[in-house]
Amino acid sequence: MKVGIPTEIKRDEYRVAVTPAGVRELAVHGHEIVIQAGAGEGSAIPDSEYTAQGARTVRDAASVFGEAELVLKVKEPQPEEVEHLRSGQTLFTYLHLAPAPELTAALCDSGATCVAYETVEDARGRLPLLAPMSEVAGKIATQAGAFMLERPLGGRGVLLGGVPGVAAANVLVIGGGVVGFNAASIAIGMEADVFVLDRSIDRLRELDVAFAGRASTVYSSTLAIEQMLPAADLVIGAVLVHGARAPYVIRREQLTLMKERAVLVDVSIDQGGCFETSRPTTHSDPTYVEEGITHYCVTNMPGAVPITSTFALTNATLPYVLELADRGVRGALARDPGLRSGVNVVAGAVTHPAVAEAVGRPFTPVEEALDASSEHVR
Ligand SMILES: NC(=O)c1ccc[n+]([C@@H]2O[C@H](COP(=O)([O-])OP(=O)(O)OC[C@H]3O[C@@H](n4cnc5c(N)ncnc54)[C@H](O)[C@@H]3O)[C@@H](O)[C@H]2O)c1
Repeated sequence: MKVGIPTEIKRDEYRVAVTPAGVRELAVHGHEIVIQAGAGEGSAIPDSEYTAQGARTVRDAASVFGEAELVLKVKEPQPEEVEHLRSGQTLFTYLHLAPAPELTAALCDSGATCVAYETVEDARGRLPLLAPMSEVAGKIATQAGAFMLERPLGGRGVLLGGVPGVAAANVLVIGGGVVGFNAASIAIGMEADVFVLDRSIDRLRELDVAFAGRASTVYSSTLAIEQMLPAADLVIGAVLVHGARAPYVIRREQLTLMKERAVLVDVSIDQGGCFETSRPTTHSDPTYVEEGITHYCVTNMPGAVPITSTFALTNATLPYVLELADRGVRGALARDPGLRSGVNVVAGAVTHPAVAEAVGRPFTPVEEALDASSEHVR
């Protein structure tokens, strides 16, 4: 199969969807790899390292999309990238379609098959292709929150860990999954007072054991959050309902319960945001103030540390890339049922139930959509 990798063009995005190790594996499996010149530069990978492993470089994205049957990316396609997609082509990348009805419509119009990293599941129902970036984003969330609490950056002027004789800052982490665990771990390491809220009792049990008394776990309810907001210096939002738009865990009117210039970090912003007052921001301009509260809502947090993130992401995606390239979508689905939940769009149909509900389009089961698509890749 011809596998293509364009340069990421989302603002402040420096990751790339394949490393030289991935090119080597694909080449050994007999595939042809076409990569846009300079695609790895943001992650400190020169073209020569790709070509040494068997890739061919081309000058522009149009050539990559024009040649490739399987396109590998990191972030959701930007409008100029969607224009290149076509029927019979497979796109494998983060999509986050639930809060993006326009992008969903455009992907449907393209006729392509679009497989989203963030909804692929493993045998235990976990999200193996979201997890590595959630680990990175969770750690960045606390770092960024600590930084934004500094007075010159508009924060309250509180040091997360305090000092002898002065209390540590109060950190609430709402959502104790992969992001939440990593955010809390860094906050514990920085010696803050840490509280982790989740709706899953089983997850709270696991966290309680993992933190061994160094953070408190709290069942997440509207009342619990309202009771904790007045003491909070930093709130990290990290909730997820697989495939769906993020639920609001803090409403606008609840911000009045908080201290002025406290900081909200909404990691769930890629799924639409879990604070009512959140709106997407970029690494170049990461924060804004709403109701006296600093909001940090960067949609591609791991993009800031591409050398870590590119390798962490591609370690996880490569086995799936090889399956898709070796067997096509149908063959790969037959071998790994967890990949089925990754398939979001097939030949004009939305094939993930939570995405379909969120964007207000009918849901079509994957196999039905594949059967209806005569031009489909294998
Ligand atoms: N902004 C970024 O750059 C970036 C990077 C990586 C991940 N993310 C996003 O971070 C979010 C979290 O990802 P994750 O991998 O930690 O997911 P996860 O599935 O591991 O964890 C989510 C947790 O939220 C809990 N939850 C669901 N609804 C809740 C509610 N109402 N109150 C409290 N807890 C609730 C779940 O029980 C689960 O434990 C996702 O939206 C993901 O896309 C964003």
